[in-house]
Amino acid sequence: MSKEQRAADTQPPQSTIYNLQSTIDGYKEAAVSAAIPLVQDGMALGLGTGTTARLLLPLLAARIAKEGLRLVCVPTSDQTARLARSLNIPITTLEQQPSLDLTIDGADEILPSNLSLIKGRGGALLREKIVALSSKRLVIVADDSKVVEWLGEHQPLPIEVIPFGWHRTAARLEALHGNIVLRTAIANPQEPYRTDSGNYILDCHFGAIADPTALEREIKLISGVVESGLFVGIAKMAIVAGAGGVKTMRSEE
Ligand code: A5P
Repeated sequence: MSKEQRAADTQPPQSTIYNLQSTIDGYKEAAVSAAIPLVQDGMALGLGTGTTARLLLPLLAARIAKEGLRLVCVPTSDQTARLARSLNIPITTLEQQPSLDLTIDGADEILPSNLSLIKGRGGALLREKIVALSSKRLVIVADDSKVVEWLGEHQPLPIEVIPFGWHRTAARLEALHGNIVLRTAIANPQEPYRTDSGNYILDCHFGAIADPTALEREIKLISGVVESGLFVGIAKMAIVAGAGGVKTMRSEE
């Protein structure tokens, strides 16, 4: 058997990969569908970013069209704003609407014991955190691959930093025992990725994050850091879907 044949035999067939992806997409849809009844007429709503949160928008648009729901929405990224506009979902800014009733957003990792999160793989963590902290309730929607035993299990922690002196900021983050990688632009890997606010993202591998609150405090003391993707004590509810159905998790209020 040739080397190529042996390699092909150890890879899952394309159809398996496709099925797995469509299964995960189905879970995301199930979680979002379970969250949509939380939206009520007259609400000011925060709209999350990412492949899960974006599934909410067509469902919202359908409810607006069918039920005449009066909503005012604050998007957490330019990408979400563009999609909302294209679906005729009314959007505004936090300046116009400083207090929100509910934000529905995705997450990269969810700790079920207290709903601490890692967010920011999609690069929108800064606006996501500002919007979440302006909301009475942050509800997370996700497929169950996002549920972890400890934060840092599968994903690095994204930290948004200003471009000026970012090497120094990275060195200080490294001193917190992180392995730091500057995120690069998908379209041009020679260039750093830029957030909607023009900043860089450092993806920080800390291993298992034993004490997210303490780590968050240390990170925020470093000059040059704008925000971290650790969301501790912010999410009130997570709606998670998997092979066993849809589960709702709540943090202690
Ligand atoms: C965006 O910056 C992130 O915080 C997303 O909410 C998170 O990455 C989840 O994205 P997916 O739903 O695409 O996995």
